[in-house]
Amino acid sequence: MSIAIVYSSITGNTKLIAEAIKDALENYNIVYFGMPIDNIIDADLYIVGSWTNKGNASDEIIKFLSSLKNKKIIYFGTAGYKKDEAYYNTLFNRIKGNIDESNKILGYFYCQGKMPMAVRERYISLLKENPADANLEVSLKNFDEALSHPDKNDILNVKKWVKDIIK
Ligand SMILES: Cc1cc2nc3c(=O)[nH]c(=O)nc-3n(C[C@H](O)[C@H](O)[C@H](O)COP(=O)(O)O)c2cc1C
Repeated sequence: MSIAIVYSSITGNTKLIAEAIKDALENYNIVYFGMPIDNIIDADLYIVGSWTNKGNASDEIIKFLSSLKNKKIIYFGTAGYKKDEAYYNTLFNRIKGNIDESNKILGYFYCQGKMPMAVRERYISLLKENPADANLEVSLKNFDEALSHPDKNDILNVKKWVKDIIK
């Protein structure tokens, strides 16, 4: 079975997960590893990953996913806002909307990914303006939780998850 690992990553979180998947599948026939490009070599299975951009995948991954027909697909993502299965499920349901029904989706994986410090600074300045805003407190807490991710456990989890799906 030929496998293409196609991902997009701005600050490196999703790239770490992509590399972990590549390591876990070292005994498989990986025919492509990298960003989405035109004319990616044909593969039986596409393992596609993205950072979360306003509740969806990145534009280039949406475009790439939309181009796939009659393939097997596994999706992985990193998201900053929450570490929560219900949230990940909502995100993936949105992403599924970009995948043609002729494909077979084998599974999806998410973990948290740290966000740029500018986001935290913005929360702090908004909190100064609105000290009673409970949502901002939650956002700040999520931001701080995300700072250590992807961590060792995320890497172990994604390796086990992808091996279990493929075997
Ligand atoms: C413009 C922008 C939009 C984002 N939108 C979301 C979002 O809707 N939900 C979320 O959980 N994280 C969101 N994030 C956080 C990133 O998806 C998260 O930090 C991710 O791990 C970054 O991955 P990368 O290091 O591979 O680029 C956003 C980040 C940026 C810069």
